[in-house]
Amino acid sequence: MKNALAIPVLLATLAIGVAAAQSVWRDEAAFFDNDGMLMRPNPAGWPYISASIGGGATNMMAPEGQEEEAKEIKGDFHVIQMNPWALDQYMESGSFPEGTVFTMTFYTLDQNGFPGDRYWAKAVTAMEVGVKDSERFEKGWGYFRFEAGATTAKAFAVERCQACHIANAATDSVFTQLYSGLPKKE
Ligand code: HEC
Repeated sequence: MKNALAIPVLLATLAIGVAAAQSVWRDEAAFFDNDGMLMRPNPAGWPYISASIGGGATNMMAPEGQEEEAKEIKGDFHVIQMNPWALDQYMESGSFPEGTVFTMTFYTLDQNGFPGDRYWAKAVTAMEVGVKDSERFEKGWGYFRFEAGATTAKAFAVERCQACHIANAATDSVFTQLYSGLPKKE
């Protein structure tokens, strides 16, 4: 595992200048600042894993007593991607290596334009990110949310995000049971 991480970590180190200047990274490994804040990833070109419409995590976290109202909200369109080298390793081993990054990008739904009952993903509203780093995070993964325009984010407490993933997700806190775009182990 250590050797497998060496190349991505080297690439990330070489690209630190760029990442720091733009406050985004699209390197192979997650990039944290000195305060342990995750810098916003740029998943352009990363493999597609899943797309869905609905409340997702945000509506499922409806405040007590407002669960029914939350169900009525159609919710955003969201697209899940992951860093390419981690996907390669997952396909070989069937497990997610240290340094795996998932991004879930939320878009507004747009229904104008062409005829027919179609919906489009339009403007990006937020991005949620999961990073596997067992040295940094108690239960193996750190979870983050970037509102539109935010460039850094602090990890959420386990109870806020990962608890639901641990209880319901099929593989190491990841909802692999829902991801038709995730290739199977070779
Ligand atoms: C009540 C359950 C629940 C909570 C709480 C929750 N999630 Fe999730 N999360 C899900 C489900 C279900 C999916 C499957 C993808 C989808 O909704 O399309 C998911 C998928 C994800 C993914 C994609 C990769 C993966 O792990 O499968 C990320 C990243 C993510 N959530 C981040 C977060 C963050 C950040 C929080 C806290 C702010 C959070 N989640 C809280 C249920 C939850």
